[in-house]
Amino acid sequence: MDAQFWLAKWKRNEIGFHALHAHPTMVAYFSGPCAPQGACVFVPLCGKSLDIHWLLKSNYRVIGVELSRLAVEQLFAELDIHPAISCLPSGVVVFEGPNIRIFVADIFSLTPDMLGSVDIVYDRAALVALPPQMAALYAHHLTYLTKSADQLLVCVEYDQERLSGPPFAVMAQDVERYYAQDYTIASIEHFPVANGIKGREPGYEHIWFLHAQKREFKK
Ligand SMILES: C[S@@+](CC[C@H](N)C(=O)[O-])C[C@H]1O[C@@H](n2cnc3c(N)ncnc32)[C@H](O)[C@@H]1O
Repeated sequence: MDAQFWLAKWKRNEIGFHALHAHPTMVAYFSGPCAPQGACVFVPLCGKSLDIHWLLKSNYRVIGVELSRLAVEQLFAELDIHPAISCLPSGVVVFEGPNIRIFVADIFSLTPDMLGSVDIVYDRAALVALPPQMAALYAHHLTYLTKSADQLLVCVEYDQERLSGPPFAVMAQDVERYYAQDYTIASIEHFPVANGIKGREPGYEHIWFLHAQKREFKK
């Protein structure tokens, strides 16, 4: 999946991945006692997710990164926020509004200094958007970028032989392989996907909480 694949998806408005409501597990987690009020949530590969609307309304701060400028323009339009748009020396464009900053960029081009401090990562349809080889690099880079911030991670599980991604199946052993070195991993929910993956293949959503063993990271 290269950048052109995703840019073309946005251009053709083929965004079947865009959920029409905030994710219930995300809402439950960030409404609960474990989530620090006013925390800064990093949403990688954010699209124009309605989860961001919910987080902002719930007084969280949001930082995101998204390849498609079209997606980011739609996000701000739908939030009814008129963004301040700037360009970093690296050429990365940034859209900003009250409590929200979105980088229009390839996540691999971001550095921890550009991102600044984040309290928690919320990954829905990001890790699973990437083919396995790239997913491993992404997981490593995300940990580096966020200095191993805790993470709420939404994965899908299904028989990869029967369907090609995205979304790619990310099984328990994959989560373990990507993250066990830096995080304590807890399974918090596991349920069948209503109507199946892409509306046809039986599968599950598996939601994980990754708690940093210590907040530092070596590249
Ligand atoms: C499956 S969609 C999920 C979007 C969002 N997380 C959601 O839940 O609706 C994956 C998104 O990641 C973006 N994307 C893919 N590769 C990326 C990369 N390397 N850096 C930044 N964004 C990327 C795509 O443009 C697309 O909007």
